[in-house]
Amino acid sequence: MRVLVTGGAGYIGSVLTRLLLEKGYSVVCLDRLFFGMDPVKEIADRIKIVKGDVRWFDPSVLDGVDAVLDLAALSNDPAGELDPEKTMDINFRGRARVARLAKERGVRRYVLASSCSVYGFQDGTIDESSRINPLTTYAKANSMAEDAALKLSGSSFCATVLRQATVYGFSHRMRFDLAINGMVLGFFKNGRIPIMRDGKQWRPFVHVKDTSNAFIRVLESDPDVVNGQVFNVGSDDQNVQIFELAKTVAGAIGVPFEYDWYGSPDNRSYRVSFDKIARTLGYSTSYTIADGAREVFSALKEGRLNGDDPRTITVKWYKHLLESQRLTREVELDGVVL
Ligand SMILES: NC(=O)c1ccc[n+]([C@@H]2O[C@H](COP(=O)([O-])OP(=O)(O)OC[C@H]3O[C@@H](n4cnc5c(N)ncnc54)[C@H](O)[C@@H]3O)[C@@H](O)[C@H]2O)c1
Repeated sequence: MRVLVTGGAGYIGSVLTRLLLEKGYSVVCLDRLFFGMDPVKEIADRIKIVKGDVRWFDPSVLDGVDAVLDLAALSNDPAGELDPEKTMDINFRGRARVARLAKERGVRRYVLASSCSVYGFQDGTIDESSRINPLTTYAKANSMAEDAALKLSGSSFCATVLRQATVYGFSHRMRFDLAINGMVLGFFKNGRIPIMRDGKQWRPFVHVKDTSNAFIRVLESDPDVVNGQVFNVGSDDQNVQIFELAKTVAGAIGVPFEYDWYGSPDNRSYRVSFDKIARTLGYSTSYTIADGAREVFSALKEGRLNGDDPRTITVKWYKHLLESQRLTREVELDGVVL
């Protein structure tokens, strides 16, 4: 089976492409390579890498593809606010284009990487039937991309949406702007964990390999079960309050629990139910927050991760690219970007 992964050189994508390879899939990675080639360098001889943009790639890339896993996006709230129109162009219109072209070109399955951020912040425990409340450009674009993809679902096109919890753990394109990874880096650099005030806010988390496996699980499920469906991706026991999360991270690394507060009190809190994916697809997570914290800490200690790499803070890197105009088509065509 030939699978095209957009954003395949990203934080989740570079883990997912490796897992797909391990399972014997033939993999095409379509990515602007905003974070460079490094995340897929090691596997470059085993996958097809197309340096292209979801907004204007040549549709022939989809010929012979059986399934699309659509991950390319400006991947968090702050990055999404740098240039809201570009965020809509990429995260909504770009991904809607991928889905539409996939259907037109005879691709049979499509999975959209969405986010639990579409729920906004709501009391109680949210499930897939809860009303959505997208508060940021990033969340709004996700919700619009979801609608566009689900509208295409039908007997010839199996479309599924995965709303992922906040991800953590080691990846070849590392992100230290994600809560758990950032806590580990804070301890590694300063011996103290930064905690966003007031620490009582609940958030759902999922390991990068577990969320990658959810994409594969959908791919391997009976189309009748996943077609037109939305699934939250994570596990109920990884809904955690931020202060408790920091304690878990410190405990996992085996260090005294020293911390610094930052930010103004964040009253936004939400818990998510992951019952549907467990019940419908028999999906369960394999990694704990402690596993993720330990693996990131080890990678920092062993020099496999560089905590000072400017590309690991997504919003800062996109700001830099925008300032040097590298998000434009002209620059891509000039070949200035890697
Ligand atoms: N990491 C998380 O915690 C998390 C949580 C929920 C949802 N998601 C979603 O999962 C997906 C992957 O997230 P990630 O953490 O791997 O992000 P990432 O930023 O590491 O990866 C995104 C990849 O997409 C590529 N890309 C961006 N714009 C592109 C374009 N116009 N055309 C082609 N390629 C483009 C980038 O070069 C990058 O390699 C995103 O859609 C993100 O919104 C992530």
